[in-house]
Amino acid sequence: MSKGPNTWLARLTGYIVPDPSNHVQLFLVGIAGFFIVRSIIAALTRKGPERFSMDSVRNQPVPAKRNFTPRELSEFDGKDDSTPVYMSVKGIVYDVSASRHFYGPSGPYKNFAGRDASRGLAFNNFDTSVLSDLDGPVDKLEDLDKSEWASLDEWATFFAGKYPPVGNLVEPPALESKEESKEKSKEESKKDQ
Ligand code: HEM
Repeated sequence: MSKGPNTWLARLTGYIVPDPSNHVQLFLVGIAGFFIVRSIIAALTRKGPERFSMDSVRNQPVPAKRNFTPRELSEFDGKDDSTPVYMSVKGIVYDVSASRHFYGPSGPYKNFAGRDASRGLAFNNFDTSVLSDLDGPVDKLEDLDKSEWASLDEWATFFAGKYPPVGNLVEPPALESKEESKEKSKEESKKDQ
């Protein structure tokens, strides 16, 4: 194997390291070097929206999770285009705005918009008669049978996988205190026995 100027190593270094006697080659390598160094400096010192910074991550609005009474939830029924569409499944309120074609006023499932849809999903029935009263207690679904629970659970998994949760469905405060006092009096009467 020859170690002369024609070895592969000599040819490779010939491409990278300019021949000092070849002025054109020196000039071209100089220009290329200038642009490479300039773009590295520009990338390191660049300011502006295209440069990643932790601040841009920290400043993202975090969707606030909140509690909705059935009446409050009903404001998100999709009738107002500028308001998101929410519906509740098993106590979790989901933002279903991405599917206004389903839940908007002319969609097939409009009755679920702004409502606790749990019982409707358990019964596979979107009629309003199945849904609970807006000013009544939150539906505890205690009377559902096994297959109705299975249906509801399947829907709950579907909604959890498709839509962002925005909060929880809660008892209206007046009813909550009534429920609490009911519970207390139940406990007290048990103690008395
Ligand atoms: C005539 C009977 C029905 C037909 C032909 C039908 C058809 C459909 C179709 C084609 C979809 C879209 C599926 C997809 O995006 O992959 C859908 C979704 C859905 N259906 Fe029905 N459906 C019927 C009855 C019902 C009933 C009785 C309920 C009541 C619970 C219901 C609740 C839903 C819901 C909640 C969705 C999901 C919408 C979403 O993606 O958010 N459907 N249905």
